[in-house]
Amino acid sequence: MSDTQDVLSRIDQQLDQYTEELFEYLRIPSISTDPAYDAEVERCSRFIEERMQEAGLITRRIDEGGHPLVYGEWMGAPGRPTILFYGHYDVQPVDPIELWRHDPFEPTREGENVVARGATDDKGQSYTHLKAIGAMLAERGALPVNVKMLLEGEEESGGEAIEKYVTRDAGRELAADCVVVSDSSMFAPGQPSIVYGLRGMAYMEIKVQGPNRDLHSGSFGGAVVNPLNAMAEIIAKLKDPVSGRILIPGFYDEVRDLESWERQEIAQLPFDEAAYRAEIGVPALAGEEGYSPLEHVSVRPTCDVNGIFGGYQGQGAKTVLPSWGGAKISMRLVPDQDPKVIAQRFEEHVRSVAPAGVTVEVTDLHGGPPSLLVTDGPFMEAAMAAMEETWGARPLRVREGGSIPIVGTFSQVLDVPVLLMGYGLPDDRLHSPNEKFSLEQFADGIRCTARLLDRVGAIADESSDG
Ligand code: BES
Ligand code: MN
Ligand code: MN
Repeated sequence: MSDTQDVLSRIDQQLDQYTEELFEYLRIPSISTDPAYDAEVERCSRFIEERMQEAGLITRRIDEGGHPLVYGEWMGAPGRPTILFYGHYDVQPVDPIELWRHDPFEPTREGENVVARGATDDKGQSYTHLKAIGAMLAERGALPVNVKMLLEGEEESGGEAIEKYVTRDAGRELAADCVVVSDSSMFAPGQPSIVYGLRGMAYMEIKVQGPNRDLHSGSFGGAVVNPLNAMAEIIAKLKDPVSGRILIPGFYDEVRDLESWERQEIAQLPFDEAAYRAEIGVPALAGEEGYSPLEHVSVRPTCDVNGIFGGYQGQGAKTVLPSWGGAKISMRLVPDQDPKVIAQRFEEHVRSVAPAGVTVEVTDLHGGPPSLLVTDGPFMEAAMAAMEETWGARPLRVREGGSIPIVGTFSQVLDVPVLLMGYGLPDDRLHSPNEKFSLEQFADGIRCTARLLDRVGAIADESSDG
């Protein structure tokens, strides 16, 4: 057994300090998608670079256009494995702001949680890596492994910069033996999980153009095609209301069947449909025929409207036949769907079902590949053991419905195991008002990462011993 006790004691002593630093990190509104916050994203990148330096990493900023990548490394263990830690310092927008109990960028302690935008996604989770490394370096002056850390500032808005960098680098500066990401959640409190599959994404925008100006809906209504009605027709033809199947021709062509062990494992996961419905406040669930809710949210593809706009949105009634309408539509993809191919088929389908009398414009906003990762090997074993030691239960292996676009690229380009060791909890409200992170999970995440460092170090000892 690896003994991490020295570092664990230091972590206990320093916890208040770590929490204080996390609060400071959470005060920076690093919303990557909105150019109004560019200066804050920049400030946040400086903040995290300074914390990396304090922890003992040598840092560098990588500019690929867009928001900066912040890189740090400690390479003092030649001949030993290298772990590449990945995370993101950008956060989602805060709207609807009125549903927050307080300013999203004034982190507030509520019981054992901290409530703030970015608390779990991904500032709180990824900060555990840095604190574990810092504590170990402070305690021992050295690590049992080499570490590299790459934090991006636009994961929530497409992640183009990191994609360019990782592809061009092709495993030179980023050469590593495994990648560790904490940007997902555990299956339940006390029940850790390691995510071995993520969905990909094709994000589209449709614009439907009708008459050259808003018209009086009495004088013109009836003869002129209403672009918002046209949009509703298009959207209605994306999915079969009875079977829940997506109607885009060829959409399922590359979808890989589940392995039988995967279906069995999913069927064994505890899932209480009534509690699930109650927690999110809906009277019934939907989904593709022949699959269970847990399958719907993790291993089957989706097509969902994310936003729809145009026409009169103000108070009261305005009798107007709008000139145009728009919608944002995302498709979650599963192995082996390709975002570019799906975007193409989506566009063809939308054009073919659009009624005459309007002009349709389809834009591919961004996309990312789905990923399916290795589920065994010594690094996976080290991760499982570190989590089991921390939470007292063997981690489950699960596939997640969310997307972390760069994960697929890491696994293709670096060709090493990617370990998704999420420290969040299922009710963390990521992307929603009152996002939170449990401070107990924060502390345990730091402890778990410290154990991981020692366990990966022990892989090297075992292989050199014999
Ligand atoms: N951390 C999430 C992804 C995630 C969520 C993984 C839940 C596992 C469980 C990430 O920050 C995220 O929100 N990704 C976006 C990516 C998109 C903008 C391409 C997503 O999934 O919507
Ligand atoms: Mn995230
Ligand atoms: Mn996110």
